[in-house]
Parts: sequence; C-alpha cells; structure tokens
Amino acid sequence: MDKEKIIALLNQDLQDEHGAIIQYLNHAYGIGEGEMACEIEAIARDEMRHLDWLAEAIVELGGTPSLERGTMRMGGTLVTDWMKNDVQLEEGAIAQYKEHISLIDDPKIKRLLRRILSDEEAHHDNFAHFVDKAKKEGIRDIRGSHQDKTAQMLNWGVEHEYTVILQYLLHSYLAPDEEAKEQLQDQAINEMQHLGWLAEELVGGGGRPEIEHTEVDRSTKLADMLWADIKIEKEVAKAYDKAVQETDDPGLKKLLSRIRDNEIYHIEVFNDLLKEAEEK
Ligand SMILES: [Fe+2]
Ligand SMILES: [Fe+2]
Ligand SMILES: [Fe+2]
Repeated sequence: MDKEKIIALLNQDLQDEHGAIIQYLNHAYGIGEGEMACEIEAIARDEMRHLDWLAEAIVELGGTPSLERGTMRMGGTLVTDWMKNDVQLEEGAIAQYKEHISLIDDPKIKRLLRRILSDEEAHHDNFAHFVDKAKKEGIRDIRGSHQDKTAQMLNWGVEHEYTVILQYLLHSYLAPDEEAKEQLQDQAINEMQHLGWLAEELVGGGGRPEIEHTEVDRSTKLADMLWADIKIEKEVAKAYDKAVQETDDPGLKKLLSRIRDNEIYHIEVFNDLLKEAEEK
C-alpha cells in the first residue's frame, strides 16, 4: 500500500477519534459531577492520546492531519441511550481499526493501530457497563436551557477554547522544531482544561455547552502560525478580562481571571517562540 493510501486511512481514524472525544465530552458534561462523568472524561482523554498518536504518524508519513470531525452519535434524551450510542461508536471504531490493521502492511503503523484497538475494546466494555449503571443509579442529563448573558459568554468561551485546541494541535504537528512543538502542545492541553472548566461552570449554572468551533488558522510556516496564535490570544485575553469586570459572582470572577492569566502566559510563550523563529 502506498503512503498516500495509508495517510488517508489514518486520517479517517483521526477524524473518528475527534468525533468520539466531542461525543464523550458532551456526555460527561451533561451528566455533571460524579464517578461516571469522571470515567467518561478519562475515556475522552484516551481518545485524545489516540488522536495525538495518529496525527504524529500521519506527519511522519509526510501527510497533514485532518481537522474534520468524524462520526458522532448524539441522539437520545436518556443517559442510558447516550451510553448505548457510546457502545455503538466503539463498535464502529473496533471494526474500522480491525479493517485498517488488515489493509495496512507497515509494521509500525499496524502495531500502533493494535495498541489503539485494545483501548477501544476496553472502552466498549466500560460503556456497556455504564448502560446498566446509568439506569440503576438514575443518572440523568442535568443541563438546563439558560441563555442569559453569563451562559452566552461561557458558551463563547467554550467555542474559543475548542478552536484554539485544534489550532495549537495542528500547529504543533506542523512545527519544524521540538521546542515549538512541545510548547504548542502544552498550551493546547491548557486550553483543554479551560474548555472543561467553562463547560462545567455553564452546566452548574443551568446552561448547555455547545461544543462547536470556528475557523482554524492553517498556516504552514512557523512564524505565520505564531502570529495567528498571538493574535487570537490577545483578543481572547481582552474578552476574558472584560467578562471578569462585568461579573459580580466571586466564583466566576476567580475562574475567568485564572483563564485570562493563562492566556496572557500563552501570549508571552508564543512571543518568545516567534522571536526565535524570526532570528532563524
Ligand atoms: Fe474509544
Ligand atoms: Fe484558553
Ligand atoms: Fe490561550
């Protein structure tokens, strides 16, 4: 099999990992606090690792990781139905990985896909168990439908964080040097924390996180990437700062200040990287 075909298959797997992450985060945030939500979030983190490994493998083969979102199963109002959807999503993933393992002859890629497959089999069993657990424990969707100014601001934050997670991950995969790769990856992980904090705050206040993203910068030169990253960080640091001033809720103020300060740190890190990139 030629490289182009392998890249296409791996990108298909990557897109489906992306879909799984968002499906599971929606379910974890919808359930709110508790053991099951934590376990579902842990599964979403496994899928993030898969996404990362697949993207690195694609880059190593000379390809570009896709940012498209693959299959999601988001129907159902009962949490048991959500868990059934998750079981089915894992079944689809297991079948697809098995197929790709049989199609691809590169031993290193085969080994990677087998590694991922073993996780998906474990996830499948976890979700099958959660179908019963959700029913037995009466676990339900705790999201509300608040659309006030705070809820809108928090959803704007969720959208921003999701966008920069994708952007910094893509930039880290395409970055030519190790330091930039590592820093972009680190900041992407920090943005994942932000997304989680904002979504939980939103659900706690009777809202509903809409996990959608906007346009991602697709520059290919490191200096151009960093320009775009600094630009978005400056805008968002300003917006979070404004939100801090506008809220009277001390808990929310603290949360938004913490995120804003993280964004300011991101600007400084990216500025240093940009200076180095421009000197080269
Ligand atoms: Fe999985
Ligand atoms: Fe952030
Ligand atoms: Fe940031």
